[in-house]
Amino acid sequence: MKILPYQPDQSGLAYSVGTTLDRFIKLKQSDFPFASGELSQLLRDIALAAKIVNRETTRAGLSNIGGAFGQVNVQGEDQQKLDVIANIRFMRALSKGGEVCAIVSEEEDAVIDLQNTSGKYVVAIDPLDGSSNIDVNISIGTIFSIYRRKTPTGSPIQKEDIMQAGTEQVAAGYVLYGSSTMLVYTTGCGVNGFTYEQSLGEFFLSHPNIQAPTNGKIYSVNEGTQREWEDGILAYIDQCKDRRYSARYIGSLVADFHRNLLKGGIYLYPATKKNPTGKLRLLYEANALALIAEQAGAMATDGIQRILEIQPTTLHQRTPLLIGSSEMVKEAESMISTLIKAPLL
Ligand code: F6P
Repeated sequence: MKILPYQPDQSGLAYSVGTTLDRFIKLKQSDFPFASGELSQLLRDIALAAKIVNRETTRAGLSNIGGAFGQVNVQGEDQQKLDVIANIRFMRALSKGGEVCAIVSEEEDAVIDLQNTSGKYVVAIDPLDGSSNIDVNISIGTIFSIYRRKTPTGSPIQKEDIMQAGTEQVAAGYVLYGSSTMLVYTTGCGVNGFTYEQSLGEFFLSHPNIQAPTNGKIYSVNEGTQREWEDGILAYIDQCKDRRYSARYIGSLVADFHRNLLKGGIYLYPATKKNPTGKLRLLYEANALALIAEQAGAMATDGIQRILEIQPTTLHQRTPLLIGSSEMVKEAESMISTLIKAPLL
């Protein structure tokens, strides 16, 4: 019997399809301090749900799943049908996967206890962010944070398992359902991005080791709320205009964040009269993006302190958010701290 060592093909006839997310997760498993494979499985569960949500969002116009669901969520926002569907998809994937003991979701009033006391992880998730953009074919996203539970497995979940500061995240990521669908995640060892190849049904590594530019020329803020900003934010945005920076605001946090992460820029959602503590949620929006930002060399602050160090006290706690290229965030933060705060109108 003749045995030959494998020689990778050099002919170039069959081009390489690259590294799948599954293979990448497996390769990187040993980077993770508790490398037991459970976190890897959890990431795969999230990726599977993301593929299903991707299928449903891209077909939304064809099936009767566009438009409002007819209910208001705990945030007081009108739920879209796809918000509800995405929530079901992720809940199902996370509960069947068996690695998770509890879920905090934008769409759920309370913590969802999966009654799986052997699960080591807690997931905080915004299943479909920017959902008001669904019906008009504009990019939307999923944002997730993964925490290791603090209490021992085998015992019921406690408040301390849920109310963890962002610094405690063991992994975080987002899925962007855009001109292509991407999954970007970190386990605290850099940030990697994967593009979904629809015909193969796989995410492939397309953006290895993402590094955010330290500075940029894009600012993203809802200028319709300008009358309600504090002086520091006003001064910073004026300065962006003086410098002829470009204003780019999609109104989908994941999409705005992703663009600025790759191109250099800053996203701001400051306190306003309507949302005096900011609009974005700490546990399942700001924290995940803040970890990714920091891992890519960017920054995230509420204007005063690092987002990741905020100790949450309530489930759906909101926070002002300034996130993006480090030089821009530092400059905005310093203007906020030096200018005397004007009362909100
Ligand atoms: O989750 C809230 C969200 O939809 C973000 O995706 C988005 O950046 C922001 O709200 C848009 O808010 P507004 O419409 O007030 O600008």
